[in-house]
Amino acid sequence: MSFSKASKHGSITTSYTIPKGTIVFPSIFDSSFQGFTEPDRFDPDRFSQTRKEDQVFKRNFLAFGWGPHQCVGQRYALNHLVLFIAMFSTLLDFKRVRSDGCDEIVYCPTISPKDGCTVLLSRRVAAFPDLPLN
Ligand code: HEM
Repeated sequence: MSFSKASKHGSITTSYTIPKGTIVFPSIFDSSFQGFTEPDRFDPDRFSQTRKEDQVFKRNFLAFGWGPHQCVGQRYALNHLVLFIAMFSTLLDFKRVRSDGCDEIVYCPTISPKDGCTVLLSRRVAAFPDLPLN
């Protein structure tokens, strides 16, 4: 799924046409926003029974691929990430250092914050578990 070759010349914009045979990579990051109404706005109603944007546009979420070779570890990986976030936010206080470019993204080739993302951590719990923070 990750990339394919253009089978014929294709117009991307009015001024740019990709030649036949060009290797085309979809933007996994940008595709996640496609279809959603104002994707950057906090809008829980987008998941409501009437709008169901998460269902209508679920094929635009390509982080784990799509089709016959879609990642078999997707649910396992997502469960791990949820568990990590739950433990992280329970056990630690964290403060993102705001700087120029901290809300901008760079592609290198995966996405990351432009400023390197400095985060200050401190322990929230005294005893459990024994985190090697010092
Ligand atoms: C955040 C973590 C992960 C991401 C972002 C990820 C992403 C992907 C992507 C993009 C593909 C290619 C899908 C395609 O070609 O359409 C893939 C395939 C695959 N992934 Fe993952 N993956 C993750 C974690 C895992 C884990 C934890 C496992 C195993 C426990 C796993 C096992 C596999 C396997 C076996 C395939 C090949 C499936 C096939 O070819 O039929 N992945 N993954």
